[in-house]
Amino acid sequence: MAPPANNLLISCILFCCLIAVSEAEAQPSFRPKALILPVTKDPSTLQYLTQINQRTPLVPVKLALDLGGQYLWVDCEQGYVSSSYKPAPCGSAQCSLANSKSCTIACLPSPRPGCNNNTCGLMPENTVVTRTSPSGQFGQDVVSIQSTDGSNPGKIVKVPNFLFTCGATFLLDGLAKGVKGMAGLGRNKISMPSRFSAAFSNVAKNFALCLSSSPNNNGVLIFGDDGPYVMLPNVEISKSLIYTPLIINKVSTASAAFAGEPSSDYFIGVNSIKINNKVVPLNTTLLKINKEGLGGTKISTVQPYTVLETSIHKAVVTTFAKELSGVPRVAGVGPFELCYNSVGIGSTRVGPAVPQIDLVLQSSNVYWRIFGANSMVQVKSGVLCLGFVDGGVNPRTAIVIGGHQVEDNLLQFDLAASRLGFSSSLLSRQTTCSNFNFTSTA
Ligand SMILES: *[C@@H]1O[C@H](CO)[C@@H](O)[C@H](O)[C@H]1NC(C)=O
Ligand SMILES: *[C@@H]1O[C@H](CO)[C@@H](O)[C@H](O)[C@H]1NC(C)=O
Ligand SMILES: *[C@@H]1O[C@H](CO)[C@@H](O)[C@H](O)[C@H]1NC(C)=O
Repeated sequence: MAPPANNLLISCILFCCLIAVSEAEAQPSFRPKALILPVTKDPSTLQYLTQINQRTPLVPVKLALDLGGQYLWVDCEQGYVSSSYKPAPCGSAQCSLANSKSCTIACLPSPRPGCNNNTCGLMPENTVVTRTSPSGQFGQDVVSIQSTDGSNPGKIVKVPNFLFTCGATFLLDGLAKGVKGMAGLGRNKISMPSRFSAAFSNVAKNFALCLSSSPNNNGVLIFGDDGPYVMLPNVEISKSLIYTPLIINKVSTASAAFAGEPSSDYFIGVNSIKINNKVVPLNTTLLKINKEGLGGTKISTVQPYTVLETSIHKAVVTTFAKELSGVPRVAGVGPFELCYNSVGIGSTRVGPAVPQIDLVLQSSNVYWRIFGANSMVQVKSGVLCLGFVDGGVNPRTAIVIGGHQVEDNLLQFDLAASRLGFSSSLLSRQTTCSNFNFTSTA
């Protein structure tokens, strides 16, 4: 007969083992390789929107996508309720990661997310209307997001301390209905791609963006994978990307920044523009980023159409009109100058049959070819316009490639290798950015 004490010990060991096992099961060591967000296009503002789950309890937060945006910011003034919110204390590792040079010693009257004592701050910006708030407190909270294998969404994963900045309600002015902040995907240590990569060792520091041209269908944003990127009907895109270096602009392009901060925008080196293989005569000085950070070419998701410095716009419009002189023109329809009666324009798999526009990159045989689906905009029935707008004589950036020109093109921003991979129009491969299979396999 075993002494009772031994029985007790054995049952304790068993019990403890059971606890250990069930805890291991509750937190399986699932390591996502990539994470996924659907992206929609708001038909009235033409903004690209996404949604993450944040806070405790988790709530869905609708966000405007800001490709060059510095970080995630959300309105904390209204409706921010969370038991897991933590402000970033002045002098903390989070504040130095953010390169914050400001500290709120006391925020009165009572603490709430976005208003805490001894918290460092940043200057969140609504880049659609270029308005900033001087006092956005930096902090962290839980977010959850779906993982992916590149073909479908999978298990949902949680990031316990995801860094973000508290914005103010007035910063939402100009953003689409229901939007509570902006998803900054820019080039720095605190942007969303950087934070997801920091949270999961297998999630690489890169992301792929594929914007749908249709407000009725989702495009997709994939964090962390090198591919595969699979679009129905089983078209794998990552193997056929063309690459060009991402260029650092040492001067911030944000409307408010701490001194010495580089730009978090994604710049590429466009050396010339060709239309129907003819070089557009341009002042190429404008295509280079100068010491003050002016000039050059960046990509933006807050500009619905590509914006060109006045002389570049004029040259592009003139050359394009010459190459399409056989088609009857109609009066311009703002903001576009060059418009045609669409009856005279045929259609192809890659959109209206118009002269192709090439952005020539690091060498003459590396170019981003823009076909009719991305160059032309149907402004009303029977009227097609060249979808480039005049950005004025002294814009900060000479060429801002906008949403319409990147729709149905997959772009891979590789922060680690500092390069952009681009697919050109997926229409030529008989798929689109709205063909990601969002049926979850989890
Ligand atoms: C914040 O600072 C103020 C002013 O020093 C102080 O009165 C208040 O108690 C502090 N609040 C918290 C939560 O520490
Ligand atoms: C080209 O652009 C640069 C930068 O704006 C300007 O300084 C220069 O005068 C321009 N050159 C010509 C020929 O217009
Ligand atoms: C989408 O993915 C699901 C899950 O893997 C699969 O069952 C379904 O057949 C896919 N849809 C298409 C159209 O291939």
